Amino acid sequence: MASFVIQGGRRLAGEHHVQGAKNSALPILAATVAVRGPCIIRRCPDLLDVTATLNILEHLGCAVERNGGDVFIDSTQLTGFVIPERLMLEMRSSIVFLGPLLSAMGQAQLSTPGGCEIGERPIDIHEKAMRALGAVVTQEGGKLQCNAGRRLRGTRFALEIPSVGATENLMIAAATAEGMTTIQNAAREPEIADLGNFLNACGAAIHGAGTGTVVIEGVRRLHGAEHTVIPDRITAATFLCAAAVTGGEILLRGAKASHMSAMLNTLEQAGCRLHRTGPGEIFLQANSRLQALPALRTAPYPGFPTDAQAVFMSLAALAEGSSMITETIFEDRFHHIGELIKMGARIRVEGHTAIVEGVAGLRGCEADACDLRAGAALVVAGLAAQGETRVSNIRHIDRGCARFELELRALGADIIRN
Ligand code: UD1
Repeated sequence: MASFVIQGGRRLAGEHHVQGAKNSALPILAATVAVRGPCIIRRCPDLLDVTATLNILEHLGCAVERNGGDVFIDSTQLTGFVIPERLMLEMRSSIVFLGPLLSAMGQAQLSTPGGCEIGERPIDIHEKAMRALGAVVTQEGGKLQCNAGRRLRGTRFALEIPSVGATENLMIAAATAEGMTTIQNAAREPEIADLGNFLNACGAAIHGAGTGTVVIEGVRRLHGAEHTVIPDRITAATFLCAAAVTGGEILLRGAKASHMSAMLNTLEQAGCRLHRTGPGEIFLQANSRLQALPALRTAPYPGFPTDAQAVFMSLAALAEGSSMITETIFEDRFHHIGELIKMGARIRVEGHTAIVEGVAGLRGCEADACDLRAGAALVVAGLAAQGETRVSNIRHIDRGCARFELELRALGADIIRN
């Protein structure tokens, strides 16, 4: 199994062009199932999860072509509504095919995703949302079966938790339902707004995507469109953190600072100097030792993202003073802590809170990339550590960070894939 081998202690400096957002690209690619006509999705990142999504689209009968970051999809000849378990297992977020398949085929059969590296991934809200639109939903032997009957019907649905995936499924399914749908307590992540923009370009009538209330006037059908995926705010922050822990400097290009406020504020409070040098540009400089982070608590957007919790813990591990980081979104998202402790970090856990006493330096060791964001955080820690760090199980990292080692090498890191 492949690993990243890092010789730590090299200061990073240079430019990095931010990839397209995985969490935007995946639901938009899935949504093309509900579209009759060719779509071109631009700035799709080169990731295992994108490949897995395209495999599902092909399995369902869509024509798919990929040319660098441009993906061409035509779902006109869609024939399937069953996603087999082997394809579901390749990608956790495949539940987001539920809404598109119900819209296009009137039925969907998926295997239930179950738990994953960061804990349980329940789908009860997705199920309730599809029922509210009039679908019959049954679960048996790990299979989720949904039937929309003739056509889904618009509804008023309040989410008990602002789930990103459930909001996406609802928006896609409601786009072609009969009548009006109102989603209350909708997730407000920028990726939701991006999906709304894509669907509207396809002829949907969605208002308020990216706010807590989304109103969707159902239309008969969606037509093909071209769309460019927003920049990935999580990998952008990962590169900022990588430069920060090595006392380096980095210029991000193609970034969207307004999507990153919680993370940029935290970096500034840790003593990094940040400048918006031009449209899409963020320059970070970290000359002196980082200061302890303000108390962090992960929360739905615009709060501090759970996907950035691990990489900011690597930062806190090296900062001067004590930082507190609380995870509120996923139950089991602290696997990186054991690995950071092996590297010399001083962290103790009380319930869902990690108390990090910053140390002056970390030492390289063998670490396991237990999940995507944890894996990236361990690589970042390894860049700052003395000696060699070997991060194993990097297929997790390849799910979400495009050309990670090549991008880091371009900034002066000593990292190879082995
Ligand atoms: C999405 C992101 C993921 C990110 C997460 C939180 C994608 C592909 N994935 O995941 O990277 O970490 O948002 O920003 O965009 N919940 C339920 N029942 C449900 C659905 C969710 O209880 O039916 C709970 C979850 O257990 C979790 C919370 O709601 O505690 C938020 O989950 P959700 O926003 O749905 O996350 P995902 O869409 O899976």
